[in-house]
Amino acid sequence: MRNAVTIAGTGSYLPEKVMTNDDLSKIVDTNDEWIFSRTGIRERRIAAEGEFTSHLATKAAEKAIEDSGIAAEDIDLIIVATITPDTLTPATACYVQENIGAKKAVAFDISAACSGFLYAMKIAKRMIEGGASTNALIIGAEKLSAFVNWTDRTTCVLFGDGAGAAVLRKSEEGEGEIIATDIGTDGAQTHLLNIPGGGSACPTTVKNAGEGLAALAMSGQEVFKHAVRRMKTSANTVIERAGLQPEDIALVIPHQANVRIIDAIADRLAVPNDRVFVNLHKYGNTSAAAIAIALDEANHTGKIKRGDKIVMVAFGAGMTWAAAAIEW
Ligand code: ACO
Repeated sequence: MRNAVTIAGTGSYLPEKVMTNDDLSKIVDTNDEWIFSRTGIRERRIAAEGEFTSHLATKAAEKAIEDSGIAAEDIDLIIVATITPDTLTPATACYVQENIGAKKAVAFDISAACSGFLYAMKIAKRMIEGGASTNALIIGAEKLSAFVNWTDRTTCVLFGDGAGAAVLRKSEEGEGEIIATDIGTDGAQTHLLNIPGGGSACPTTVKNAGEGLAALAMSGQEVFKHAVRRMKTSANTVIERAGLQPEDIALVIPHQANVRIIDAIADRLAVPNDRVFVNLHKYGNTSAAAIAIALDEANHTGKIKRGDKIVMVAFGAGMTWAAAAIEW
């Protein structure tokens, strides 16, 4: 009997406030030319003061649920991928469960940085295949503006806030499916990209509160090299497992961190640029939310249609990487 899993609906939400590169140049010593030429980013969204990661996640989730045609009370699994949870505990997924009224859902977070949404996809897929879930909601959501050092020009220009979501369920005959997934981790590189403070290793205290330790720190050039290598390998893994050739791929949705990384990946996968989805000029790097938002935009702007083969690939702190090949 067919035991495949499909994406039944997608949704996304971006906060209203737009912060342009020119706005940033009034905060730190930077300019639009440097940011755009090095990253491809023009602007990003910033959550309002009382708007938390769970609020962004809830709005994206509600749209995905509506798009799927499945009732919220029939969702039995909620996974939120985030590195910027509302609180260290409980999980942001618990707030989302209450907000959307999915009372019978088991809800938890995963922390895999920019790869988190695809990690969540793999976990949910396996749980559905194994019978532990029928209708799963996966969300990538971040309020990175709360964990950025706004005096550090090397990082604060890169990140933004947002959320994206998808509802997964068993695939019926004639529907698309998640064909192959790949996830991986290299814990030897934890020092290259992290939020050093705010956890048990370095709790925020009255003494260190002003040092900006609960903020993203990154060795940009090192991360860049790992990102290209790992994303290429992970994408190729799912392409091979799915039995695809470059010409079969209708759209590659890569993590939205840097357009130079995206170009390098497209080149190595031999997929032309017009079949590579890019929206980071509008949103910057939204970590776990990036691929989820991009998938929803591609879905609702007609960039992908039933039967198309799509490859998604991500890379983030950990280091983590992940890819998925999908028939839409
Ligand atoms: N404005 C102006 N100048 C700047 C800025 C800025 N915002 N930031 C840095 N500079 C300066 C530096 O001080 C340096 O000056 P110097 O030569 O006088 O020392 C110069 O620009 C070059 O800096 P580099 O760091 O070498 O710039 P690079 O070309 O490597 O670009 C970047 C930096 C954009 C961060 C790039 O390395 C990158 O994208 N790395 C990968 C990021 C990524 O993929 N992250 C993964 C996921 S994120 C996650 O998991 C949460």
